[in-house]
Amino acid sequence: MKTAIYPGSFDPITLGHLNIIHRAAATFDRVVVAIMVNSGKKQPLFTPEERCEMARRVLCSLPNVEVTCADGLLAEYARQYEGAVIVKGLRALTDFEYELQMALTNKKINPGLETYFLAASERYTYLSSSIVKELASYGADLSEFLPQEICQTVADKVRQEDKQHE
Ligand code: COA
Repeated sequence: MKTAIYPGSFDPITLGHLNIIHRAAATFDRVVVAIMVNSGKKQPLFTPEERCEMARRVLCSLPNVEVTCADGLLAEYARQYEGAVIVKGLRALTDFEYELQMALTNKKINPGLETYFLAASERYTYLSSSIVKELASYGADLSEFLPQEICQTVADKVRQEDKQHE
């Protein structure tokens, strides 16, 4: 069984992520969406459990996709899935240097671990979780950017956070 691990912060999961997951699920036997910590980022909007719950809500119709919360190093985490590869989406040239650095570091730690890159769909090359959060804070319609199952959850959470900081 060929497993692909798709790691990220997913704070929150967007239509761009979903596009990569659908395409990976059509190629690999199993896709593990791993909700992880990027230590370079400040306070996330959602807890890991909330991010997991939203991703599960959105992905429940895909039988070969599972969602997990994971901490620690991705290269170590991947050891539990024999022969697994990492899948990442490349949105633009600006992603490349950072992604290459991560792929090479992961391979240094776990030499059997390959990273496969999927070109992000043109429709989503501009998208990021931060952009969506910013739009939400201005009350924008999020349906072009987020799976419909979580639009309201994200809008409510951003509003709640904004109120707390008023
Ligand atoms: N469509 C839309 N948005 C996308 C996207 C796509 N196809 N691909 C990436 N993005 C967005 C993400 O939402 C994220 O947006 P944000 O910065 O506004 O939150 C941004 O692009 C960067 O994504 P990514 O490069 O996947 O970073 P991340 O922070 O989501 O995830 C981890 C990084 C968690 C995978 C990485 O930090 C990690 O592996 N952590 C574990 C610890 C570890 O092993 N560290 C050493 C790594 S060498």
